[in-house]
Amino acid sequence: MSMNLKKNLCGAIIIILMVALTAVVLRFIVLGQTLPGSQADKRTAIIVTEAERTFMLGEMRAMLLGTQQILQASLNQDMPALIAAAELLGMKKTHHAPSGLMGKLPLGFKKLALGSHHAFDQIALDGKDFGDSEHSLEQLNEILGRCVACHAAYRLETANSN
Ligand code: HEC
Repeated sequence: MSMNLKKNLCGAIIIILMVALTAVVLRFIVLGQTLPGSQADKRTAIIVTEAERTFMLGEMRAMLLGTQQILQASLNQDMPALIAAAELLGMKKTHHAPSGLMGKLPLGFKKLALGSHHAFDQIALDGKDFGDSEHSLEQLNEILGRCVACHAAYRLETANSN
């Protein structure tokens, strides 16, 4: 094989690998597994398995519960209860996600989800540092903005084959 041919072959292989890598990053990090919204329901559908849907909805109900607990604790001026409720919804929550689910979530969803978990951790941290439940409520209000934004943009759809 001539030097030139070898060089061209190497270049072609590198280009093919780059394209493949870009495709993987696009599919698993940016796009996820989704269907565009329709006229009737404009939300983007995220395609998950029945088990993943059950897991996600359980997490959602935990967030609703935690939100109520933070409000209740704030009304009671009970900072330890407020901190405990916020901690339960922090980043450590994300460690229990079923493997494979992350690759199905589009980037915008992941940003809102991780932002929310970070923000719950921040409520707990600031609660310990400042003990100011008014400040916690401001932070919770910001998180509720994320709940609203995500619910407006996405819904779940089940497909059992993957
Ligand atoms: C990153 C996106 C995202 C964020 C942030 C988010 N949700 Fe959700 N939530 C969803 C999706 C998607 C569904 C399913 C909607 C559908 O399929 O129609 C859902 C469903 C729910 C449900 C229904 C649960 C059930 O059993 O049917 C509740 C309750 C809920 N979310 C509460 C919350 C609360 C409270 C917050 C904020 C503290 C929140 N969510 C933040 C995406 C999100």
